Amino acid sequence: MGYVIAVSGKGGTGKTLVSSLLIRHFSKKSPVLAIDADPDSNLPEVLGVEVEKTIGDIRERITADGVSEFEGKIQEIIVEEPDFDLFVMGRPEQEGCYCVVNNILRVAIDTFSQNYDMTIIDCEAGLEHLSRRTTRNVDVMIVVTDATKKGILTAKRVKEIADELHIEFKKIHVIVNRIRPELKGEMEIALSEEGLDVIGFLPYDPIVAEYDLKGTPVFELPEDTPVGMAFEDIVSKIEEDLKSL
Ligand SMILES: Nc1ncnc2c1ncn2[C@@H]1O[C@H](COP(=O)(O)OP(=O)(O)O)[C@@H](O)[C@H]1O
Ligand SMILES: [Mg+2]
Repeated sequence: MGYVIAVSGKGGTGKTLVSSLLIRHFSKKSPVLAIDADPDSNLPEVLGVEVEKTIGDIRERITADGVSEFEGKIQEIIVEEPDFDLFVMGRPEQEGCYCVVNNILRVAIDTFSQNYDMTIIDCEAGLEHLSRRTTRNVDVMIVVTDATKKGILTAKRVKEIADELHIEFKKIHVIVNRIRPELKGEMEIALSEEGLDVIGFLPYDPIVAEYDLKGTPVFELPEDTPVGMAFEDIVSKIEEDLKSL
């Protein structure tokens, strides 16, 4: 059985950045399934992958044909890249209920992830994914936050809701992104007061910002940039974690 890592947090904190760096790291070693579970999807762009169809696009057909037909349909929309496979949840065509899409996501996490050594999920911002139980079989939950009260609150709520719903992540860690060095200590204290463990800090990185502006995939980010170097440290801790599961 492979491992599942989910990346969550408040909007705009760096979930997609962290997800793409995790995908890059682990896909160098063994088969990775990347799932973009954010309806406001942009993981494909950050990975430099073109996606034609999402679960949102085929949702109508899935409900019409029933769930037994579902596996083949997912297979249809998985994009196979040399280093990893990707599928994108997208958003349903109509406004309203995301239940079907989320049910599909849950089944995908429970079944498809077994075919890969590692599954990495770029979650929807906020906490919906928890209350809808789309992340129940997650080994490591990474919450990305900025150095703000709101970000800390989201991280705290992820933990609380998981406890309330009896969702067990084997590990839950916080990454503080775009941190000013002088605030590290304070953030660490604030998070530990909430029972949250900081696995690492990522600095603001002008090269990430430049890539953003040009639309260059983050996947191509050199490893010796500020974010690249800080991430190496974080991912080695995550690997230690996985070994201990
Ligand atoms: N450490 C960083 N340094 C510079 N830019 C960053 C950093 N982290 C994130 N960004 C940029 O901030 C924006 C939001 O990050 P993103 O990963 O898309 O957040 P989320 O997925 O949580 O909404 C993106 O344009 C991203 O490239
Ligand atoms: Mg995102």
